[in-house]
Amino acid sequence: MSIIIALFNQSGGVGKTTLTMNLGYHLAQKKHRVLLVDLDPQASLTTFMGQDPEELQQTIYLNKFLVLVEM
Ligand SMILES: Nc1ncnc2c1ncn2[C@@H]1O[C@H](COP(=O)(O)OP(=O)(O)O)[C@@H](O)[C@H]1O
Ligand SMILES: [Mg+2]
Repeated sequence: MSIIIALFNQSGGVGKTTLTMNLGYHLAQKKHRVLLVDLDPQASLTTFMGQDPEELQQTIYLNKFLVLVEM
């Protein structure tokens, strides 16, 4: 059985990323299999986990690689 925990709040700076990272860490410590999904375009969680968002070839924000030109 899988459990999905969503941590969201429209406000910034209220501890969403910190709580997600620490909750994931402690669940993993208790031998749960954990997948952290970073849906914030600021990608702080991705950075906290040691990844450079600019170096990732695929993200959920595919439009990152599109160039929009207004004429
Ligand atoms: N429980 C806490 N106590 C004190 N500072 C915290 C706590 N949780 C987060 N912070 C700090 O608050 C700031 C914002 O946290 P962050 O997790 O990045 O918020 P959010 O993801 O909601 O924007 C960070 O500097 C973080 O270190
Ligand atoms: Mg955050």
